[in-house]
Amino acid sequence: METTKINIEGKTVFISGANRGIGKAIVEELISKGARKIYAGARNTESLKTLQAKYGTIIVPIQLDVTDIASIQAAAAQVEDLDILVNNAGVFSIGKIFSKEANASLEENLNVNVWGLINLSNALIEKLRKNSTTAIVNISSLAGLGNMPMCATYSVSKAAVHSITQGMRGELANTNTLTMGVYPGPIDTDMAADLQMDKDIPENVAKDIVNGLIEGIEDVYPDAMSKEASSVYITNPKAIEQNFGTFA
Ligand SMILES: NC(=O)c1ccc[n+]([C@@H]2O[C@H](COP(=O)([O-])OP(=O)(O)OC[C@H]3O[C@@H](n4cnc5c(N)ncnc54)[C@H](OP(=O)(O)O)[C@@H]3O)[C@@H](O)[C@H]2O)c1
Repeated sequence: METTKINIEGKTVFISGANRGIGKAIVEELISKGARKIYAGARNTESLKTLQAKYGTIIVPIQLDVTDIASIQAAAAQVEDLDILVNNAGVFSIGKIFSKEANASLEENLNVNVWGLINLSNALIEKLRKNSTTAIVNISSLAGLGNMPMCATYSVSKAAVHSITQGMRGELANTNTLTMGVYPGPIDTDMAADLQMDKDIPENVAKDIVNGLIEGIEDVYPDAMSKEASSVYITNPKAIEQNFGTFA
């Protein structure tokens, strides 16, 4: 089936969690490919000053806490025009299933990674529908394709993002919207600071996402570990479950 390809030149983008990490790298990559306007969502808009200093009025700072419906609605109200929505904001709250942290960590992961993504997407979908060639990019994780017990409740939330992405794709079938799921392995950002693993850099993730938009790729595996795991996942998902199960 033919997928929608996005010419980034002149496009308007909304991205949550734009101030640091993978989100900031995506902003910079999109601008390097000609994006016209970036609605940059951040809980504290002061944290967008570096991007604003570098890119001027291309960056439109938007206060956004994805766990706060009023903040989402106020953010959406400021959006005049939208071609690409990037659901990037996320937390990594550690909790195993059999632990006293299970409930609280699951709640935190779901509030930001799942409800935040759904509520922001619903707040912006009508703006996206007004344009002819559009995209929704959801940042899941390799941990969403197989549960890693050391961060089991995070895996649960990212598996939900994977399923939401499939649901969105189905609902948006036969429209000119590309619905992309992104499945990074460990990436060198604040989120993964305590992970003792080989990590790829956020700039590589951003490059693969933007290239995926241009080429119309629905499932993006943007780093060394995810590229290797994806080929196994496609042919033998049980092997991924067994391998990821050792991350305990
Ligand atoms: N790093 C990895 O190894 C890795 C691997 C797979 C997937 N991912 C996913 O990639 C995405 C970006 O992660 P990252 O590595 O760039 O992490 P990061 O450096 O910790 O950045 C997380 C971003 O999310 C924002 N955020 C957190 N809670 C929010 C909320 N309630 N409302 C709005 N924004 C909120 C943060 O804003 P503040 O600055 O205000 O906290 C920050 O901008 C996440 O969805 C993450 O799950 C990361």
